[in-house]
Amino acid sequence: MAKIVTSGIQPSGKMHLGNYLGMLQQAVQLQDNPNYRRFYFIVDLHSLTGRYSPKEKAKEIYELAADLLAGGIDPKKSTLFIQSHVREHTELAWIFNTITSMGQLERMVEYKEKVSQGIAANVGLFDYPVLMAADILIYKGELVPVGDDQRQHLEVTRDIARTFNGRFGKTFPEPKAILTHAPRVMSLNNARQKMSKSLPQGCLFLTDAPKVMREKIMRAETDSYTEIGYDPVRRGAISNLVMIYAELSGLTTSQVVKMFKGVGYAEFKKELAELIIRTFKPFQERRAKLVKNRSQVMKVLEKGAKSAAPIAHVTMEEVRRKVGLI
Ligand code: TYM
Repeated sequence: MAKIVTSGIQPSGKMHLGNYLGMLQQAVQLQDNPNYRRFYFIVDLHSLTGRYSPKEKAKEIYELAADLLAGGIDPKKSTLFIQSHVREHTELAWIFNTITSMGQLERMVEYKEKVSQGIAANVGLFDYPVLMAADILIYKGELVPVGDDQRQHLEVTRDIARTFNGRFGKTFPEPKAILTHAPRVMSLNNARQKMSKSLPQGCLFLTDAPKVMREKIMRAETDSYTEIGYDPVRRGAISNLVMIYAELSGLTTSQVVKMFKGVGYAEFKKELAELIIRTFKPFQERRAKLVKNRSQVMKVLEKGAKSAAPIAHVTMEEVRRKVGLI
């Protein structure tokens, strides 16, 4: 039987290098494994837990679909759709709400970080990991390509699966995260924080113009050593740049360090910027075409939802029966 791979991404802001190296690149590579069946979704409902304008949201959802397709998600190999188009995700989340403790969600680092930044939390933000568990388990997902920041949420998914199975009989697998070599890309101007759209200066967006990419890399934080090196604990900033170079070139971090032995930071950064620009040029061209071709993108998403929905429906029927709903 095919193993089920599931992953989601929020349509809030543009796709960045962290999303690409932590998740998308791997989601694309997994498409070549004939033993897997893949469900990739745009988690529009999750993204409503932040502040947004409805008009802007609709555009973000559609443009994220263009990002994913331009980035290599192939609708012939993966089922790509919008989370809210398969209603069972939220129905299952409600059942899971009733078996999840407040205490566990109160311990979520992502939630605590947002609250500590002064974001007024709504119930949806608090409940976010439960909907994520439903996204995965509605397809009985076993493997989840995600970045390191989602590991704790996946722990909740496993706990929910275990609790449900314990109370109502074996129903769900306990899914595992699959991480890349770059599970936590750090901000370019603050290596103590992960790259994120909420810190735009240190965030390299895949749609940035070459000039902007160059500027962001040339301005990136380094350290006062004279040579590049890879030591994420003591030299976070330069190690982050080395890791990005390694991931995009297919080399290992030690090969990159060797290759740039005796080369100054400015020269290394110049090479890195050119590598990034080269890598994402075809992506940017494909994306520009897709953004103009709205009907083609919408067709892919509709087809995806149509093929995901019957599977979600079967799981939901099983759950309804097991918990005693009639
Ligand atoms: P989101 O939209 O914040 O991020 C999408 C994916 O990108 C990864 N990522 C990173 N990886 C490495 N370095 C970074 N700096 C970085 N920033 C983001 C994230 O880990 C993620 O894999 N809760 C999820 C979305 C979600 C989901 C799901 C994921 C909803 N349901 C079910 C998997 C399965 C999120 O907010 O991702």
